[in-house]
Amino acid sequence: MRHFITIEDVSDDDLVTIYSLATAPIDDELLRGQGVALVFELASLRTRASSATAVHDLGGTSTFFTDHEVGIDQRESAEDVGRTLCALYALCGMRVRNHGIFTRIRAASDDQMALINLLSNLAHPTQAVADVLTLAEHFADGDVKGLRGRTLAYVGDATNVTRSLAVALLRLGVNVNVGAPEGYQLQPGGVEDPYAIAGGGTLRLFDNAADAVRGVDTVYTDTWVSMGAEASAEKRRQDLAHFQVNAELLTLAQAHAVVLHCLPAHRGEEITDDVLDSARSLVWRQVFHRRSAMVGVLRWIKEEE
Ligand code: CP
Ligand code: NVA
Repeated sequence: MRHFITIEDVSDDDLVTIYSLATAPIDDELLRGQGVALVFELASLRTRASSATAVHDLGGTSTFFTDHEVGIDQRESAEDVGRTLCALYALCGMRVRNHGIFTRIRAASDDQMALINLLSNLAHPTQAVADVLTLAEHFADGDVKGLRGRTLAYVGDATNVTRSLAVALLRLGVNVNVGAPEGYQLQPGGVEDPYAIAGGGTLRLFDNAADAVRGVDTVYTDTWVSMGAEASAEKRRQDLAHFQVNAELLTLAQAHAVVLHCLPAHRGEEITDDVLDSARSLVWRQVFHRRSAMVGVLRWIKEEE
């Protein structure tokens, strides 16, 4: 049974297969007659919409479950949620507060239900697939292997998005710079660990935005206040104030450099309007490729059957 829980769990060959399946024409109905459960403990627009459209594109039907309805470890245990869902579904996407839920659901469902991580506190792998597709489309005519040697700078709070993105890019030979203040920098260890990627691209860490961005092809940022971190929002805004992606910062990148953001954006905080709305911004292609990414992941999971 294939699962898509982190980028690091998936082999290089399987990732290349996912990238390829993501952009292949949709002329199949792989999910015809099949239901897909989509469980969201946290808010979502893009992930929810792209999951639903991808399932629909492949001929299946999706059903959404909110935190209020399911209440993992509140209304009932994660294990009983897993046992229930696997009795009714062979495929389940989940957005969870704690990454460890995947291990528990997987064990409780006796590996009978394929799991797709739609964001956890530690990883956002479907976003990373969409980001790779976006960069490959822009820089390499869609050939993900053509990204080798490029450099991306991630600026701001090193989040779940940063971890999956860095693992995906380093494995493709893309260099990753991370500019973040103390306390917000990418930490080694745990799941989806970019420090553990041997070979491929080079990971470089900086304590300021300017050095991270100098000479790069791509600048990426994410919110300063991830879901679950709302209590420290004010402190985060102060600590990260010098890590805004704005027009002045971008003068340090290559003239051809593009800008990515997973969204939702907090305009005037981690990114300015003039950058987000500029011709350099590929954020709407990223959104487009969220659906491509889900199509690729769903096809890859079904391919094994
Ligand atoms: N980028 C992303 O995952 O967006 P949503 O939280 O709206 O799904
Ligand atoms: N880091 C953000 C990503 C949202 C798509 C969060 O976890 O809230």
